[in-house]
Amino acid sequence: MSKHIGVLTSGGDCPGLNAAIRGVARAGQEAFGMRFIGFKDGFRGLVQNRFLELDHHLLSGILTDGGTILGTSRDKPHRMPMGDTVRDMTDAIVETYRKHHLDALVCIGGGGTQKNALRLQAAGLNILTLPKTIDNDVAFTDVSFGFDTAVGIATEAIDRLHSTAMSHGRVIVVEVMGHRAGWLALAAGIAGGAEVILLPEIPHQVEHVAEAIRKRSRSGKTYSIVVVAEGAMSKSQAEQIELLVAKKNKAKKKAQKKAASAELEAFHKEHVNHTVNLTAELEARTGLESRLTILGHLQRGGTPSSADRLLATRLGTACARQLAEGQYGYLIAARGDHTEPVLLKKVAGQKKLVPTDHAWVNTARELGICLGDGVGTV
Ligand code: F6P
Repeated sequence: MSKHIGVLTSGGDCPGLNAAIRGVARAGQEAFGMRFIGFKDGFRGLVQNRFLELDHHLLSGILTDGGTILGTSRDKPHRMPMGDTVRDMTDAIVETYRKHHLDALVCIGGGGTQKNALRLQAAGLNILTLPKTIDNDVAFTDVSFGFDTAVGIATEAIDRLHSTAMSHGRVIVVEVMGHRAGWLALAAGIAGGAEVILLPEIPHQVEHVAEAIRKRSRSGKTYSIVVVAEGAMSKSQAEQIELLVAKKNKAKKKAQKKAASAELEAFHKEHVNHTVNLTAELEARTGLESRLTILGHLQRGGTPSSADRLLATRLGTACARQLAEGQYGYLIAARGDHTEPVLLKKVAGQKKLVPTDHAWVNTARELGICLGDGVGTV
């Protein structure tokens, strides 16, 4: 009997999702004679039994397309908004899985998806996952697909901002995505030749940034590009977060925990504006006209780079091989030119942040790029 496999994409979309769907399903069909269905809009499609047959016709021509032919959502199986309430829909998912007589479910997604996939494994489903995200923060894989394309888009934007910053003698702050990780900012900042790069992993002080810009200005260059990760924080903000997290962890009663969580949430909500405030502060401290560009979802759109097509395809074909072997409960990770199954229970709940002694951080410091912590540059 040929194996019957379900596939879904979940979390924020990114370039390379279609290449991964095609990689798994095409290799599964061609090399192992499996049949595939794709569930629509992440875990919600499993709850509502909305699916597509992933046949040759549907898989044809999607390699180069951005987004995902399956649609995606940030819905969690155990906390899904259903009408006016939020419900645990795990049983409905298990029912759909059984109804289709699936042998396994492939969940393609980022950090949140790995956690949700593990929950479904605990509910008795055979699961494999693939790592996608422009943030590159999925643990235990060298890299996730979507990242290379996003770095390319952000780098091109920085290139373009350079010429306008130079013409006007301005400071241009560029906010890039990355959630709580700085990979995208660091890679695009180095590749784009930024003067300053601010990461969540290295809390900064505005005065260090301002002084780096003033120093550059004194040397005759009155323009600067400041690349800021959306999750970057000042030193005092990082300390505040640390206190709030400690308060949450220490809370013994449910109500105390809830209150501490609400405080943390409020902090993050307020923090969304941090690059607006930083831009104004830099203008005030340097006397140079300053502008802000938020790249936002541009970084997630459009056709995947060739590196992401290759990565998503080889992770997909490795996943098909793993399905054929019937070895479940793994993330298919990228390891150099190869792939490696890593236990899902090891991956779920972990985040790959930029180590402060990472080779790219050292490269940035050696180039004299200011990282806002006062080390080396001022
Ligand atoms: O995880 C990918 C990502 O683009 C993050 O970089 C960003 O913080 C988040 O998703 C944005 O999410 P949404 O598209 O739901 O606003």
